[in-house]
Amino acid sequence: MLTLLLWLLAALMGARTTATSDQEILNSIAHQAKTSKYNIVFVLTDDQDAELGSLDHMPFVAKHLLARGTNYKRHYATTAVCCPSRATIWTGLTAHRHNITDVNPPWGGYPKFAALGHNENYVPVWLQEAGIGMYYTGKLFNVHTVSNYDSPYPGGFTGTDFLLDPYTYNYMNSTFQSGTDKPVSYEGHYSTDVVAEKGFALLDQAVESQQQFFLTIAPIAPHCNIYMNGSVLAENHTFEFTAPIAAERHKHLFSDVKTPRSENFNPDEPSGVSWVRQLPKINDTVIEYLDDFYQARLQALQAVDELVDGLFQRLESYELLNNTYVIYSSDNGYHIANHRLLAGKSTSFEEDIHVPLIIRGPGVPENHSTNLVTTHTDLAPTFFNLLDVPLRPEFDGKPIPVTQSGLETALREKHEHVNVEYWGFAGAEGIYSYEPSLIENNTFKALRIISEDYDLYYSVWCSNEHELYDMRTDPGQMHNLLFEEEVLSPTNPSFLLGVPVQKIVARLDALLFVTKSCAKESCVRPWSSLHPYGNVSTLEDALSPLYDHFYEVEQRRVVFDRCENGYIIDAEGPQFERDGIMYRDGLPWDTWV
Ligand SMILES: *[C@@H]1O[C@H](CO)[C@@H](O)[C@H](O)[C@H]1NC(C)=O
Ligand SMILES: *[C@@H]1O[C@H](CO)[C@@H](O)[C@H](O)[C@H]1NC(C)=O
Ligand SMILES: *[C@@H]1O[C@H](CO)[C@@H](O)[C@H](O)[C@H]1NC(C)=O
Ligand SMILES: *[C@@H]1O[C@H](CO)[C@@H](O)[C@H](O)[C@H]1NC(C)=O
Ligand SMILES: *[C@@H]1O[C@H](CO)[C@@H](O)[C@H](O)[C@H]1NC(C)=O
Ligand SMILES: *[C@@H]1O[C@H](CO)[C@@H](O)[C@H](O)[C@H]1NC(C)=O
Ligand SMILES: *[C@@H]1O[C@H](CO)[C@@H](O)[C@H](O)[C@H]1NC(C)=O
Ligand SMILES: *[C@@H]1O[C@H](CO)[C@@H](O)[C@H](O)[C@H]1NC(C)=O
Ligand SMILES: *[C@@H]1O[C@H](CO)[C@@H](O)[C@H](O)[C@H]1NC(C)=O
Repeated sequence: MLTLLLWLLAALMGARTTATSDQEILNSIAHQAKTSKYNIVFVLTDDQDAELGSLDHMPFVAKHLLARGTNYKRHYATTAVCCPSRATIWTGLTAHRHNITDVNPPWGGYPKFAALGHNENYVPVWLQEAGIGMYYTGKLFNVHTVSNYDSPYPGGFTGTDFLLDPYTYNYMNSTFQSGTDKPVSYEGHYSTDVVAEKGFALLDQAVESQQQFFLTIAPIAPHCNIYMNGSVLAENHTFEFTAPIAAERHKHLFSDVKTPRSENFNPDEPSGVSWVRQLPKINDTVIEYLDDFYQARLQALQAVDELVDGLFQRLESYELLNNTYVIYSSDNGYHIANHRLLAGKSTSFEEDIHVPLIIRGPGVPENHSTNLVTTHTDLAPTFFNLLDVPLRPEFDGKPIPVTQSGLETALREKHEHVNVEYWGFAGAEGIYSYEPSLIENNTFKALRIISEDYDLYYSVWCSNEHELYDMRTDPGQMHNLLFEEEVLSPTNPSFLLGVPVQKIVARLDALLFVTKSCAKESCVRPWSSLHPYGNVSTLEDALSPLYDHFYEVEQRRVVFDRCENGYIIDAEGPQFERDGIMYRDGLPWDTWV
């Protein structure tokens, strides 16, 4: 079809001299049409882990994305649950800035997203205003329902076909809603296959429009199946959680595969913060169920894998592979039996926050992987950058480089932190649950710090419990170096990275003090908020004895006044000055030193 248009153009231009020059003109127009404007196709799965090996069982993802693109092996979700994480992806803001901190009202969900005005002021709206055709199918947000889908319609889209609650997670009885049409039930059809068909139809529409486009395809796999008899807004609604449901053609697969028996798999010794530490060891009956649950996740991902294959076949036949970036990720990760947890997310363990990110497209190194530390906060600026749209000043992240040279430069800049945050409940998915079923006070601030020389996790909980894991020696996060019994144990190291552990804690706590309320530049370069002259930009720099007094004596500590289920600033202790300058005794620290 593009070829036809080019012939017409060429004819109109009267460019009918020799066959060779015709061809040259056409080639040059084709080249311009295909390279001056890039498109994005974003495949966003739901609850797909990077730690439990799900990507090892997706042959088409391996073929089209891993072998032909770059695998960002250190990519993180900053709030490990669907709606807050998706709100971060679509606003470019950390959760403490967009304040969508839960899946459901009053702290989160689509109604709150709309009520806060985000629906008029977020990535789809901004990109559509920049002239990009915006298309979306699948799950957008939680509590986007058959009753509220039109009040308001999600802003900023050219073509849509959304999955709606209470049928979003019902693999065999989904309901979709397109444009301003009424919702349509797909009872008996397999959800991911419907999403694939709709994604391909939107791709056709985007291609026909001749406009630069951004298509998101967001299947629910491998999320668990949920049967609900009303949305969470309906009085007396009930939920039934089961393992994800595979397409009939995939139900026989992976019968021998089990949840990885990693160092933190249902351990004999408890680990983690107190509510995790109190969990009983999981018995064999439940482990067997969780292995089946794991198999069901892999089976459910097969339809996504086929979707990816279908997508690449179409991009190839449309000759769009030259000017289209395909980005593959998941809203958050997942744990199964790790640390004696059942199946679920919502914690800050690596299983929950570490997620896949693979990018393929023009100039992206093929069959490549990188250890560059990136987060979901960086996705919005990355989309803008790839589409050549100026970045929004409010973004809390920065564009992820996609070229070899960009990756090399970024690695030299040593961006090493991930700012993780969470408010509210944790729960288990599947037929087994915790006692009580919703764990309260799962509210915390955490940091991941990753470089060639160190790999650390640090957190402060609303109970004011602290965790520190040295993930080089303890990748399973089994030994909290700040847990009293560990501290007293003769095997607990009193030194880490060549200095007393408390020196590291002082630095990490000061950094967390900045990131827990950061905005824009202070989220991207939090050390600069502490060291405005740029003396320090990594943990390694900060560990200089020059700064012992600064960190160990002068800085305020991250401390909670109480636990809340949402972002109530008043419960979260002292706050870093919003303008990014640290004060002590009323004086900015840099005039004070
Ligand atoms: C990808 O790279 C690995 C080595 O890193 C190599 O073994 C493999 O053959 C490559 N695959 C492709 C498709 O080029
Ligand atoms: C976040 O939203 C909640 C309501 O969900 C509100 O009570 C709280 O004040 C908000 N926090 C901030 C910092 O705006
Ligand atoms: C499927 O969903 C429709 C509503 O979209 C509902 O009327 C129907 O009862 C559901 N079917 C089953 C088997 O739950
Ligand atoms: C919800 O359940 C309560 C208690 O059983 C009952 O009084 C109420 O009428 C129910 N509401 C609806 C809408 O069914
Ligand atoms: C859902 O089912 C429960 C139990 O059968 C019933 O009490 C409740 O009224 C139902 N809720 C809705 C919204 O249909
Ligand atoms: C295993 O644990 C589950 C969930 O706590 C419980 O329902 C079941 O009875 C236990 N089975 C055995 C054999 O102890
Ligand atoms: C576009 O892709 C074709 C193969 O489909 C290739 O021959 C051509 O060199 C590519 N053009 C550019 C500009 O990358
Ligand atoms: C920080 O850097 C500035 C400018 O290079 C220098 O003047 C100052 O002494 C440094 N401060 C410390 C504490 O190292
Ligand atoms: C949760 O935190 C609140 C406020 O800090 C406290 O009152 C409550 O007892 C805690 N609940 C649990 C289960 O620890």
